[in-house]
Amino acid sequence: MWIIELKCVFESEKQCSEFLSCLMDGYVPLKFAYVGSAAHTHDLLASTEGYGAIVGSVKEEISALREGLLKIDCMVPFNVVELGPGNGRHTGAFIAELSSVLTFSKFELIDYSKTLVDLASQRLSDVYPNIEFNTSQADLEDYESNIEFGKGDDPNLILLFGNTLGNVESWKKSLQHLFDGMRSNDILFTSYAIYDPKVEPSVYLDGYRTSELRNAALEPLVMTGADTSSVEFVVSFNAEQSAIVGKATFLSETVISCSGKEVPQPTGSSVRCFLSRRFSPLVMKGAFESIGFELLAHVPSADQSISYLMAKKL
Ligand SMILES: C[S@@+](CC[C@H](N)C(=O)[O-])C[C@H]1O[C@@H](n2cnc3c(N)ncnc32)[C@H](O)[C@@H]1O
Repeated sequence: MWIIELKCVFESEKQCSEFLSCLMDGYVPLKFAYVGSAAHTHDLLASTEGYGAIVGSVKEEISALREGLLKIDCMVPFNVVELGPGNGRHTGAFIAELSSVLTFSKFELIDYSKTLVDLASQRLSDVYPNIEFNTSQADLEDYESNIEFGKGDDPNLILLFGNTLGNVESWKKSLQHLFDGMRSNDILFTSYAIYDPKVEPSVYLDGYRTSELRNAALEPLVMTGADTSSVEFVVSFNAEQSAIVGKATFLSETVISCSGKEVPQPTGSSVRCFLSRRFSPLVMKGAFESIGFELLAHVPSADQSISYLMAKKL
């Protein structure tokens, strides 16, 4: 039986109590795989080739962005806001191309993980010393509080890349949450992983059966008391949810603990600790429109694995 020290290993007591409460319900939201020391494990994962395929090509993003901007004939500078910049590597590549499409005054980085957003901001400031990067912490899944985007005169261009919308617990609620925080002239530009029922599930699992993914998905459990050698991690495709699902099974009794609160995991019990949905473009279009978005661009990547979607409030 494993027992660890009684301290908060996340970034706040709020994160800790939400983590334990979800664990008692049998799952760990993926956002916990980015906070505290887990941010560094994500940093490693985000440098692997498989992850690069999910992130997609910046050139394709820029071309979709250009297509959407033509529809609104908008020449003003934007306040660019990226929600979930990860370790900032993709953001850096995106910024290099962005100035060919639009002008922007500032760049805001918003993330659930303070550790990651600070890492991203530091990296980006080193590469772009002339751009002002502001950081803040917010949870796309905290429906009790509004996400604060820029309130100045310039419209916000809100970026949400890397299938982050597919990795939250309730993507429809999170999309509504985003919509509620936007002003009428703000623009949302996002990318998501495409689901095509004709594609063999094994194709979707490619890149997810790696030691980097295993380590990243298990990190929140390891931070709170599990020993990786006492956990079996299995990744499968759930056709009903059109999602890649990772399940951890405890091979020996383990006490998961944070801030002095303990949740024992009996031998043989399982916790879902990875979930990444893929979406049919028709489903995504319907969800955006039913919330009250107008689609400005909706373009698949050349290999049909990712879709780029730009939208504003109707
Ligand atoms: C898969 S990474 C994507 C990173 C980057 N956008 C890219 O494309 O490489 C997901 C990012 O979203 C953040 N994130 C995950 N869940 C979140 C939530 N509920 N609220 C805010 N940020 C969240 C993570 O901390 C991480 O920075």
